[in-house]
Amino acid sequence: MTSHAALPKEIADQAETNSCGLVSTLRALHHLNAHLSEPEVRKLLESLALHRDELSAFERFDPESYCRNRIFSNGFVDLLLLCWKPGQKTPIHDHSGSVCGVYVMRGEASEIGFSPSGHGPLVPTGTHTVAAGNITVSSHDDTHVVANYAKSGEELVTLHCYSPPLQSMRVFAEKETFFADYTGATERATTSGYFHVEIE
Ligand SMILES: [Fe+2]
Repeated sequence: MTSHAALPKEIADQAETNSCGLVSTLRALHHLNAHLSEPEVRKLLESLALHRDELSAFERFDPESYCRNRIFSNGFVDLLLLCWKPGQKTPIHDHSGSVCGVYVMRGEASEIGFSPSGHGPLVPTGTHTVAAGNITVSSHDDTHVVANYAKSGEELVTLHCYSPPLQSMRVFAEKETFFADYTGATERATTSGYFHVEIE
């Protein structure tokens, strides 16, 4: 599914040298001929991070929901700038065959992981934050929520790279997750299930 050394050399080199601008990097992506591996997705995001100022031109927010702004797409890679007002979050989802890399341009991203409980429902496995300037890469079957839960109340802007482009993903309803109160007071579980969401 993934291939080694799919990333054009000029982009890999650029991550170290900052030798060309955003337009040149995007133009080089047209030469991709295979899906990117997880290390290559990270390398591409490192290269794009050098063009933070140019990328900020793609920022668009939506007061109702986090906003997905497409920067580039071909058969092998999809680049989007996601903009999050305080409190906005994704549903619980996986990536259905795509590697997903996230570079936090500004603000602080929160990620909550989930995994099957053995009984069907998902259980939360942990949470961590990703500060501005950092990159996190998810495998295709990683299941999580990404949110802007920053205590500071600031906006969040994240650059996402999917390879191959995300065609669909499994979205899990929160009522299908399993939450246990480990004081023993309450416990709630429902049957597992998910539905597919087609990506625009
Ligand atoms: Fe995700």
